Amino acid sequence: MTRRYDVVVLGAGAAGMMCALKAGQRGLRVLVLDHARAPGEKIRISGGGRCNFTNLHAGPANYISGNRHFAKSALARYTPRDFLALVEKHRIAWHEKTLGQLFCDDSAKDIIRMLLAEMQAGDVELRLQQPVGAVEKSEDGFRIALDGGVVEARALVVATGGKSIPKMGATGLAYRIAEQFGLPVTETRPALVPLTLEPAMLEKLSALSGIAVEAEVRHGKTGFREALLFTHRGLSGPSILQISSYWREGDAITLSLEPDVDLFARLKQARRDNGRQAVQTALGEILPRRLAQFFAEDLRLTAPLADQSDRALQAISTAVQAWSLKPAGSEGYRTAEVTLGGVDVGALDSRSMQAKAVPGLYFIGECVDVTGWLGGYNFQWAWASGHVCGEAL
Ligand code: FDA
Repeated sequence: MTRRYDVVVLGAGAAGMMCALKAGQRGLRVLVLDHARAPGEKIRISGGGRCNFTNLHAGPANYISGNRHFAKSALARYTPRDFLALVEKHRIAWHEKTLGQLFCDDSAKDIIRMLLAEMQAGDVELRLQQPVGAVEKSEDGFRIALDGGVVEARALVVATGGKSIPKMGATGLAYRIAEQFGLPVTETRPALVPLTLEPAMLEKLSALSGIAVEAEVRHGKTGFREALLFTHRGLSGPSILQISSYWREGDAITLSLEPDVDLFARLKQARRDNGRQAVQTALGEILPRRLAQFFAEDLRLTAPLADQSDRALQAISTAVQAWSLKPAGSEGYRTAEVTLGGVDVGALDSRSMQAKAVPGLYFIGECVDVTGWLGGYNFQWAWASGHVCGEAL
């Protein structure tokens, strides 16, 4: 038996649920399909279980896309304050952690419960553990084959996310549907992901595994100033995840450790105050001890500060604050928070997210070639693109 809806949304993630609740509350008959056992699984694990659900400063400049103007319309029409109003309506306690990043006080599950309650208010039907079969155009909409029959809808919204964390149900279905309907898909790659190092470099840095330090990490003109973490695979921490979205194979990145410290001036001062001090000890007042030891050994700095020339102190500063490293690769989709690239924004209407060449077909959320920085920006894109789509259906 074929059941008819106004809208079928594929994917009960952040974008799909937002779109469905908006469309349902506008009086449309909405069905949401997901192959997972529970809705919003990525919301549940996000932000260490507390969901960094938005960023107060979210704007087009915080996103990477084939067209940096594309996200403007949706982000302006559904802002972080709009989402916050919803959170407050549901009396979910929240706090700002840092840099405009808003988190739940208690649990990310509060956000999922909120979205489900709003979907219920819009009489949205949600079917879980529902593998999606063939999708095709019908006379006046779309036909979707399911295990237990066929559903039809005037509009089809694809919100199945990207390729990151396949273990959690990511499939790349959105890209296949886009290609089936002749829409271009830009190259996809893991983003917001730890970077790996060559075995020789890894061996050299093995003693540093587990150390976190404040850093500015740069790739060309782009730089992020946040924590950096040395791991047994390479480099991680917020600053590395951020730069991973810009880094490409073969490129070097530059690390400046403790970038707020004028290291050269501090070392000269230490030489004046206590010339007999070992360089490693002086460095250890600025950097974590193991890191100071690493630089002292790597640069063979055995002589005390008094025996170090300005040139030598400058060289130490450069090693610590203009450290050029060539990552070997990334940890890939297994640990990437998001997928860079996706459905080409040139093929979509930025006000509604509708495919320009296929009326009734919409793409929202992570499957679109709009990728946010770390810090609540990706959920804000999911909410904003879902909301404007839900309004336009
Ligand atoms: P999302 O991936 O959320 O949803 C897609 C849905 O489609 C899923 O429910 C999936 O099961 C379903 N689906 C996929 N293929 C299907 C198929 N073939 N058939 C049926 N259903 C299918 N962002 C942020 O802003 N703040 C944060 O704190 C975090 N933290 C974070 C932590 C971790 C570990 C990860 C992996 C990611 C984050 N993110 C984040 C990123 C954020 O989770 C991501 O940007 C959004 O979930 C994207 O929302 P979507 O709705 O587009 O996809």
